[in-house]
Amino acid sequence: MIAAAGWTATVIALACSVSLVILGWQAQRRPQGVPRAALKLAVGGMVFGSVVAFGALQVALLTDDFSVSYVAENSARATPLLFKISTAWSALSGSIVLWTLVLAGFTAAVLRQVRDMQDRLGTGALAVMGLVAAFFFGLVATVANPFEILSNPPTDGPGPNPILQNHFMVLIHPPMLYLGLVGFTVPFAFAMSALMLRQGGVDWLRRTRRSNLVAWTFLTGGLVYGAWWSYEVLGWGGFWAWDPVENAALIPWLLATAFIHSSALQVKRGMLQAWNFVLVLATFSMTILATLLTRSSVIASVHSFTQSGVGPALLGFLVIVVGVGFTLFALRGEQLASNRRPESILSREGAFLTNNVILSVFAFVVLLGTIYPVFVEAFSGAQVSVGRPFFDRMAVPLSFALLLAMGIGPFMPYRRAGGAVMWQRLRLPLLLGAAVSAALVLAGLREVSVVLVAFLVTAMVSGTVQELVTNAPDPRPQSIWRLVRRQHGYWGGQVAHIGLALVALAIATSGTLAERASVSLGVGESTQFDGYTLSYEGNTLVPSGDRSSNIAEIVFAADGDVVFRAKPALTQFNNQVQAVATPSVWTTPTRDIYVALSSLGPDQVTINLYRYPYMWLLWTGGLTVMVGGVWALAGGARRRPEAVRLEEHRMSRQGAHD
Ligand code: HEM
Repeated sequence: MIAAAGWTATVIALACSVSLVILGWQAQRRPQGVPRAALKLAVGGMVFGSVVAFGALQVALLTDDFSVSYVAENSARATPLLFKISTAWSALSGSIVLWTLVLAGFTAAVLRQVRDMQDRLGTGALAVMGLVAAFFFGLVATVANPFEILSNPPTDGPGPNPILQNHFMVLIHPPMLYLGLVGFTVPFAFAMSALMLRQGGVDWLRRTRRSNLVAWTFLTGGLVYGAWWSYEVLGWGGFWAWDPVENAALIPWLLATAFIHSSALQVKRGMLQAWNFVLVLATFSMTILATLLTRSSVIASVHSFTQSGVGPALLGFLVIVVGVGFTLFALRGEQLASNRRPESILSREGAFLTNNVILSVFAFVVLLGTIYPVFVEAFSGAQVSVGRPFFDRMAVPLSFALLLAMGIGPFMPYRRAGGAVMWQRLRLPLLLGAAVSAALVLAGLREVSVVLVAFLVTAMVSGTVQELVTNAPDPRPQSIWRLVRRQHGYWGGQVAHIGLALVALAIATSGTLAERASVSLGVGESTQFDGYTLSYEGNTLVPSGDRSSNIAEIVFAADGDVVFRAKPALTQFNNQVQAVATPSVWTTPTRDIYVALSSLGPDQVTINLYRYPYMWLLWTGGLTVMVGGVWALAGGARRRPEAVRLEEHRMSRQGAHD
């Protein structure tokens, strides 16, 4: 019964998304021909269908209904409640049901923007949202159907992948990632609608700024908390492995970050119009590539779901999106290209261009390294892998260039940044940066990358504080508060910049100043690490529900006082072959001590020890980037300077003539 309800609801949503395509398309052609109520009904049906389908899946999981194929394949009676809920997106078809739910939500948000049927840009965007939704609902109704009814249901199931039921981050990371990746469908839909209408100008940018920032902020969270999850669970002591699925989520983030800035440049200065279309088409295409890499077995990764018929469908969809999107752009691009150029590269405009070049090159390099093995295998059958050395060699200089541009760019005036003005603005931040770096070197720090990042972070933070104080009418806190409230976009951006700088500092310190050791201890034996005496106090087997954890107790003592008890564990799940090792992390303001089990015998333990300085800066920096995004969001739509309005008027008059 519940499976039938879930599948029927999916088919209803599919039918409604197809009708949304037709209605939206007609409305864009002949606005008076389609009543708004019809659009509302179609979107309402999509939302209703996706909510019922997702609800049905949850009910089937929570009631252990093993007649439903998804439950029988991925759940177990003894799975704890929270992980039963997250099982809904812990395997392929369930994760697409969540994808459709989020997509229906964003489509409803677009409908709210379409105030009247004369809004051809909006109705066209709804048609494109309907098209993307029809594809994903089509997947759920066919090749990725979680609601198949089993004629001979089992009494219990294997439970979700052990790694996916070992940490609460499974409840945060995937949903955040989906809100991010799916959210980029909105700017894509408006860009396609504007291209269909040959409509240049900033209207489609103004109308997608918020959804783009919402998606960007969530994707930032998905990336950072995915890294945290990997750090806390996978036990290899790291947080980013340049795994194809990690890369596939990073690429749209890099492109969307570039779009945040190039769209600001178009709204404020009327530049980069054609490029903004390219960026949005590329960002959306990369979200589909991310879905393809995670849901088809073209790549081997801890992240990828099992083999299924979804892969070819997603590949086909990606080819259509790229083909149709860029063909439409090619047919319209020339008419829509803006002919405004920056007066000088040494200007805020120049900084935005630099931002876009660095971020696009970064995205391209990561894409190349990620899909190169897929292509080599597809065309020659040879198995090659592109590993950390390639990505690090590319990412480090690009990151430094980005940090440098981020440290100077926001303080540059528009049009032309004279030397005197820039020296006056950068003198103090550079001085403070130099002072901090000198102090670090005098304190014995010799890692150039850490000294450099510390210099850039100090310059950026002090530059932002200086900008605050100089732009506020007076240094009183309420005046500064009034300033940041008046320019949400600018100051939200500065907070995001500082957040990213903190992330860079944490990556530099944990990458170059880390200490590692691997030790074997018998019960009662001890060793030294980071100035502490570590003693192994034996292990305890703790059975609970569907798993039993073998927990090793390692005591950290200083001057005879116990200061920390590390409890890394090896958890064996009843219905699963693979045991999961859970590290133990001791975080203090100056460092993390990370204890991971390598082997655990009856009388002996082998542990890997890592000391990572200032690791908390990574998660805090990530959170700060998100806070910056939220603050930028809190501001209303951007005001359109006179110059741009004139440029737009020229565009629409030119469009009208074609
Ligand atoms: C080349 C490096 C960069 C430069 C020169 C730069 C410059 C700027 C400037 C000038 C603004 C204010 C725009 C306005 O006037 O409203 C801004 C906003 C912003 N920046 Fe950056 N930025 C850079 C890199 C980054 C990176 C890597 C991130 C990612 C964390 C980022 C995140 C943001 C955000 C979220 C905003 C707010 C955008 C909005 O309100 O729509 N920026 N940036």
